Amino acid sequence: MKGVILGGGKGTRLDPFTRIINKHLLPVGPYPMIYWPINKLKQAGVTEILIITNKQDLRSFKELFGNGDELGVKLTYTVQSEKGGGIADALVCAKSFVDNQCIVMLGDNLFDDDLRPFIEDFQNEPYGAKVLLKEVKDPKRYGVAILDEEKKTILSIIEKPDNPSSTFCVTGVYFYDKNVFDLIELLQPSTRSELEITDINNLYIRGKGLRYDILKGWWLDAGTHEALFEANKHFFETRLE
Ligand code: G1P
Repeated sequence: MKGVILGGGKGTRLDPFTRIINKHLLPVGPYPMIYWPINKLKQAGVTEILIITNKQDLRSFKELFGNGDELGVKLTYTVQSEKGGGIADALVCAKSFVDNQCIVMLGDNLFDDDLRPFIEDFQNEPYGAKVLLKEVKDPKRYGVAILDEEKKTILSIIEKPDNPSSTFCVTGVYFYDKNVFDLIELLQPSTRSELEITDINNLYIRGKGLRYDILKGWWLDAGTHEALFEANKHFFETRLE
């Protein structure tokens, strides 16, 4: 399976750093943030990885990681057409890279769990899509999954709800079959003018093709100043792997 890491976007919640530097290049421990999702994929045996970033940041990414040799992976890069187009808009750029299925990771999502069991599970049923969930204290900040835990299905996902009726957030780790690229074509921009990954996932739910698993260990979306501090604290206290 191939891996796609999204490393673009505006990173407005990390202003003013992100006026001059891509969010995913900010430090977490001794490495730029995006090193960690690359490493997670590598540890799980996913070595062909596409990084999607912004036009103005492409050079920095290439200078930093080159073709991935030093990291033991094969890296290719592409740029998203619109910086603030949203996750689903950026994902379109992976269409020609993906063969049948892919794992998609948001480059600011850091976690301890090993990806291998989730990847193996998806490869055993390589159709539809799968998301990884995590129980959180502040679900309002995320896509929130309403579950039927008995049937182990997701009933719906609501993006950043004012009054969340579940504490399960959808993390930025997604598994998709190739249909994802046809579904993106059906999307309309959301109220924040983005093509939302949550809308894609809801389309899979309608097609009865969205499965889920729950992360057991530490997980973080490092996209705010507090979270970036937390990520560094986690690294220096317990060591990310
Ligand atoms: C994005 C997704 C959201 C998800 C989160 C995980 O939010 O839209 O559904 O829960 O990543 O990190 P964003 O960081 O773009 O606001």
